[in-house]
This record gives sequence, C-alpha cells and structure tokens, in this order.
Amino acid sequence: MSKKANTFQTPIGTRDLLPDQSPRWEAVTDVFSSVASRSGFALVDTPIFEDVGVFSRIGEGTDLVGKEMYEFLDRGDRRMALRPEGTAAICRAFVQHRPAVPWKVYYRGPYFRYEAPQAGRFRQFHQFGIESIGSDDPDIDVEVIALGWDVLKTVGLERVELLVNSMGDLNTRKRYQQSLTEFLEQHLLELDQDDRSKVESHPLRVLDSKRPATQSVVAEAPLIDEFLDKDAEEHFERVREGLNALSIPFTVEPKLVRGLDYYTHTTFEFQSQALESAQNAVCGGGRYNGLIEELGGPPTPGIGFGMGIERLLLACDSESSFPHPSSRTQVWVVDVTDGSSARDLTHLLRINGVFADRSFDGRSMRSQVRSADRSGAQIALIIGEQEIDESTISIRMLRDDQAEQLVVPRDQVVSQVRQLLGLDS
Ligand code: HAM
Repeated sequence: MSKKANTFQTPIGTRDLLPDQSPRWEAVTDVFSSVASRSGFALVDTPIFEDVGVFSRIGEGTDLVGKEMYEFLDRGDRRMALRPEGTAAICRAFVQHRPAVPWKVYYRGPYFRYEAPQAGRFRQFHQFGIESIGSDDPDIDVEVIALGWDVLKTVGLERVELLVNSMGDLNTRKRYQQSLTEFLEQHLLELDQDDRSKVESHPLRVLDSKRPATQSVVAEAPLIDEFLDKDAEEHFERVREGLNALSIPFTVEPKLVRGLDYYTHTTFEFQSQALESAQNAVCGGGRYNGLIEELGGPPTPGIGFGMGIERLLLACDSESSFPHPSSRTQVWVVDVTDGSSARDLTHLLRINGVFADRSFDGRSMRSQVRSADRSGAQIALIIGEQEIDESTISIRMLRDDQAEQLVVPRDQVVSQVRQLLGLDS
C-alpha cells in the first residue's frame, strides 16, 4: 500500500501572501517608502534575528519580552531571538555604526510575537517603521507623527483617531509608577482577577485593561500628567502646538502608556474606529531617550513609530479604501501556430517596456482569448497561419468593442503597441 505523504499548513498565526493580495501589499509599501523618503528618511534593513540581549532592554517585565519572544539557541549555543519589534534593533545598529545625527531611517519587514492569534493579531506580522535618532527637539516628534498621519491619509483612511500623551523622563515614569502601584494595591480586590498580578510586575499595563471591573478602578487612578516636570510640560506643549499648526487632530490621553518600557516623553497611537477595539492600533510610537544608552551607546534621544501593515490593510478593507491595483498586464500574445511567435514577441515587447504575457501548452484560440480577457490586458496580438504567411500581426483592442482589428507588419508591432498604449506620448 502506498503511504500518503504528509501535507503542511502555514504555522498558526502566520499567512501566505498570494498573488491576489500581493500587488496591493506592494502598492502600500510604495506609499510608505515614498512618504518616508519625501521627509528625508532612508531605508535601513537589520537582521531578522539578533542577540536576545538587544530586546531584553524593551523591558523584562513586559509581555513582549517575558511571554511573546521567539527565543532559541543557535548551533553555536548563542541565545538569539526573532525580532519582536524594530526599535531596539535600529538602536543596536545606531550604536554599532555610529552614524552622524540626526539619523532618520525607515524600515519594513516581518516581526514575530507569540501571541494568541485573532483578527488583526498574528505571530508573524509586518511593520512599517521610522526612527529619528539624535535630537530632542519636539518638532521632530511632530514630524514623526505627521509622517504617520500622511501615510494613513494617503491610503484613504478617515476613521482614525490620534491619541497622544507624555510620559516625562525616566524619573517621572518611576515616580508615577510608584504612585499608581500604591493606588492599585489599595484597590486590589476591586480589580478584575486577571489584572491583579500585573500590579506588581507591570502596573502601567493595568491602565489599558479592557476589563470593566478594572476600568472602573482605573477611572479614579492618578494620571501621569500630574507628575510631569517643567521641561516635560514644555516639550509636550510644543508638540501639541505643532500638531495644531499642521491641522492634525488629536486627543490627549493620559492613560496611553503603551506596552514597552523604553518610552519617555511623547507617546502616541493611531487607532482605527473601523477595527475591533482590542486590535484597533494601526500605528504606535513614541520617544525613547534612554534606550541607546541602555544598549551601550552615548546618551542619545530618539523617537519613532511602528505601523502594522496587516492592520492597516484591514482598516482599509473596513473603510473600502485603497482598492487592489488593477492588473499590470497590457498585452496578451495569442499564437495559434506553434508558439514560436508568442515566445519571441512577448520577449521583444518586455524588453521594450511593455507588460506582456501569453498562454502555453498549445491552447485553442478560444482558451487563449479567454486568458487574455481575464488578464486585464488591453490588447491581444493574434498570430495565425495567415499572419505567419504574410509576416503580419493582428491587433485586437480587448476593452473597446467599437475598435476594428488592425493588421500591421510584424516589424512594426512594437512601435504600434507602444503607441496604442500611450507609452510614447
Ligand atoms: P507596537 O505598538 O508594539 O510598537 O507595534 C506597532 C504596531 O504594530 C501596532 O500598532 C500594530 O499595528 C502592529 N502590531 C503589533 N503587534 C502585532 C501583531 N501581533 N499582529 C499584527 N500587528 C501587530 C512597536 O513595535 C514599537 N517598536 C514602535 C515604535 C517605533 N516606537 C518607537 N519607535
């Protein structure tokens, strides 16, 4: 009896990007790259895995490091991690290469978190991100937030809310955390059971719990804005002024503390009202003025954001924006002789800048024309015995019922096609 081979599926929480989705994925990537480069950011690509120590600086107590990181020993017994986010890796690269500041970079690619998969939450997901390293000027905070806003507007999202907050410096954060912990400890039994353990390990995380019992306690909790010193207040004031000047609407949300320990001063999140609230953050970021130093570099401020590509496209689906691009195939070569003309002509057209394709396996005329139609091509070039005998090509306009079929000498077909497609005008 023959043994049936095992078949495999994508691992839980991961997806294949297939041709019905990939042109839109490429288009959104182009939007991001052009918006980022227009603002003076340049592409940086770091490895997908790093020494685990690079990411432990995100915070040992955070879910991201404590529970969700994909860690492994490589064959040389080094402790490595698949990158769960981009910022720490970019800061590692900054410390390693010591570039001139401000270092304005963007990145895109896959990130890995061992989370419970659900709509908009994956174990391998993709981010667009930017980091601006080397300046504490609050106008850079505005530039970074405006860039995120620009991307969201370019893909046509309307139902997006920008929340901003200031965490002050690391001392402010420490003092606030202490006061919050004291408050939460006094109300421990009123908190939802699942949130109680966080009070000691990560009190800030209690603030964004979605559980009703916890939310009513949190409504009375001390807020970070009461702890900001004069410098932090002024920095935040200038950021808000800048957003107003650029007409970017925002809401100040003192409970927006975000999940990573490195944040100082400005934090922000763009939330889509078209998505489920648990996964509605399409973009999140903030300042991290202590991170470079923690990674062994000189004291250097920085700010950036990460934008989830899957979530961005889900929000576009919900708002019916950023449609799938139409097919790029312009010409289909239909050859009902021995296929040699299709072989030679598609090549000739392609090297002359035309998106051309064809059928294989000696299909019938009907089948080839059907494929031409499905491809979205505007033009079919038809070669039968008569065209071979006369060294001509018949040109049929597929999207114009009124247009007559043309017959052109074979050696003029490329220029004729380019002209019909408006490529030479
Ligand atoms: P983050 O908030 O952890 O921040 O992630 C940024 C964005 O990535 C989220 O707003 C969301 O759109 C997307 N995202 C996160 N986890 C998942 C997931 N499991 N599945 C799908 N999408 C996800 C950071 O990563 C920081 N490095 C951002 C930053 C840059 N801060 C400063 N610079």
